[in-house]
Formats: sequence, structure tokens, C-alpha cells
Amino acid sequence: MTRLYLSPPHMGSEEQVLLNEAFHSNWIAPLGPHVDAFESEVAAAVGVPHAAALSSGTAALHLALRILGVSRGDEVVASTLTFSATVNPIVYQGASPVFVDASPETWNIDPELLAEELTERARRGKRPKAVIAVDLYGQCADWTPILETCARFEIPVIEDAAESLGSTYRGASAGSFGTMSILSFNGNKIITTSGGGMLLSHKKDWIDQARFLSTQARDPAPHYEHSHIGFNYRMSNLLAAVGRGQLRVLPERVRARRANNARYRRALAGTRGIKFMPEAAYGASNCWLTCITIDPDLFGANSEDVRLHLQSVDIESRPVWKPMHMQPVFAAFPVRGGSVAAKLFERGLCLPSGSSMSEEDLERVVTAIKRVGGK
Ligand SMILES: Cc1ncc(COP(=O)(O)O)c(C=O)c1O
Repeated sequence: MTRLYLSPPHMGSEEQVLLNEAFHSNWIAPLGPHVDAFESEVAAAVGVPHAAALSSGTAALHLALRILGVSRGDEVVASTLTFSATVNPIVYQGASPVFVDASPETWNIDPELLAEELTERARRGKRPKAVIAVDLYGQCADWTPILETCARFEIPVIEDAAESLGSTYRGASAGSFGTMSILSFNGNKIITTSGGGMLLSHKKDWIDQARFLSTQARDPAPHYEHSHIGFNYRMSNLLAAVGRGQLRVLPERVRARRANNARYRRALAGTRGIKFMPEAAYGASNCWLTCITIDPDLFGANSEDVRLHLQSVDIESRPVWKPMHMQPVFAAFPVRGGSVAAKLFERGLCLPSGSSMSEEDLERVVTAIKRVGGK
């Protein structure tokens, strides 16, 4: 039996044709016509006018913070329940993170706790320079109250939609809510360029700045002239060609992952102690990963027992993200709440969710899970 991975790449039929076209035209790297086309196609898909294709989602977050002027001594508020790449760029800029707990209903940043945190900081005269809210595992954050609160305190919002291309919130696409938003095309994402990311904004000037900074900040001059510190963060034309092919199959990939999620829900519906990450009524998740929580008292085994058993039968699963406030490297930074995220980490497990999974693959995972629980 073959190994079942959590979220393997899934190529469509056009990626190779587009890649060959880039190859034969000798537009290998960096830039080239596929980069321009990929930017406008992603921008159109998300419904945001401007986009810059970059080497990773992390690079996009870093440039977003840099362009918003986040620097040494500043504070940036972020969800604690996320991958470290959401937060690392805050520290690259010499600023410090302030963490806010997740809501149990959405697993995303809790809008009420965010409002409390910003109110208290405003009272102390310490307004954070930015807020980063994540659309976790494909589910959009609750953008209406988040944006209202941030507008009240005049704080720009960065939307980390790395995991959520193809998801919606009240009819609008993930990636369209932030003052600036980011996407990831890392190998495990719903569509991939092997590695890559995108920065999106309604403000052209910011995206122009991102293009400038991501190509070593070269001032217009025939020689190399620099008045800013730049980065080597641009996406190559070859990878953009792959991305264009992948974008064409995005709706199918969303359908396949949502179908996985629905099948898991049906197959595990009667299993005591297992609950699914709730899907909020305000939107539709791309179901990038299907995540469950396991109550050991009801199920008869804990999430780590299940993970180890799945591993023994060649099925990859992973604990839900370990919250940032529990990470040794971020332990010194403040957190508002934290117990919701901590419990989701303790009980949560992400199941194989790839868009190329067959019904038999899914049945294999479900059978293995049921074998562990004794009740
Ligand atoms: C929530 C989140 N933010 C940021 C990133 C960073 O994206 P990348 O791997 O493209 O740098 C990832 C994934 O890797 C992610 O899951």
C-alpha cells in the first residue's frame, strides 16, 4: 500500500505545457510574461486589483510589514493559532508580536478578544502598528468585526490567506479583506508552484513598492544604484507558468477537498469523541485540511495515539498548529487568552486531505482511526 500524505501536490493537465512554453521562450528567470499573467489572473480570481508574485508567502508577509513601516520597537498583533511563518516576519523587522487566542467556533482570531486587546493598548497609548489575522485551514476569519475594530483604531490589517485560496466570506474571496493580503503556493497548499507566494492590495503604490523591494531595490539608473535595502523575493517565470496551470484547476481542487471533508464527516458521524473543525455559516471553506478534535474520555484514545497508529500504517497526519504563545521562541511575548488554542493543539489532528485522494484512501484513514478508539 502506498503512503498517504497530508496534502501532496496535485498537477493538472496544463502546467507542463505552460512550463515548456516558458522553457522554449527562454524566459527562465526571474520575471517574464508568465509572472505578469499569473499576477493578473490571481488578482482577478481573488477580486483585488493589484498583486505581486513572490518567492514565498513568508516573503509576502515580510514585505507587507516592511511597506507598512513596521520597525524596531513596534508591536504587531497576530493570531496565536497559526504556523510560525505568520509571525516570524514581525521579528525580522525587529518588532514584537502580541498574541490573541482563537475562537472555538471558527479556530480563527477571536474578534472580541482582539477588540479588548486593542482597546486596552489604546488606553495605555501603545497602539500596535498592524494586525495579522489568518484564514486558518481554509476557513476565513470573521472579517466584519475584525475590520470594524481595526478601522476604529486606525490599524492596518494583513490577511494571511496562505491556506485559504478559493474560500469565501459573505460571498467575497479569501485574500480580499486585508489592507494587504498574502497567499502561499508552497508544495502543500491547495495549488502550488513548488514554492511561491503573492502579495495583494487595493493600493497600487504598495504593490509597486513590493515589486521594487523584491528585486533588490534597484533605483532607475543604467548602473546599480540603491537608496533602499532590497530583497531577492521575486517569483521566477518558470514557477509562474506552473501557477497559471494550477489556478485553472482551483475550482476542481476546492470541490475535491470539500468532498473529502464531507465524506470524513459522514464516515465518522457516529464515532463518540470525534468532532470536526466547525465550518462557520458566514462562508465556505476550501477545506484545505480536514481537522478533527478527539476527546480521549469519549473516544478511548487521544490524538497522539491516533497519529502514531496512522503513522504505523503509512498514513501521515499532524497535530493542529502548536500555538505561537506556547513556542519556546515566542514564550516571552504577551498573549490575550490562549486556552482555546492550547486545547485545540492538545486534541486536534489534521487528516490526509489531498485533492487526489480516492474513496478507498479515505476509507483507509477512517478504518485506521476507528481501530484506535476502544469505546
Ligand atoms: C498560515 C500560514 N502563513 C504563512 C505561510 C508561509 O507560506 P510559505 O511557505 O509560502 O512561505 C504558511 C505556509 O507555509 C501558512 O500556513
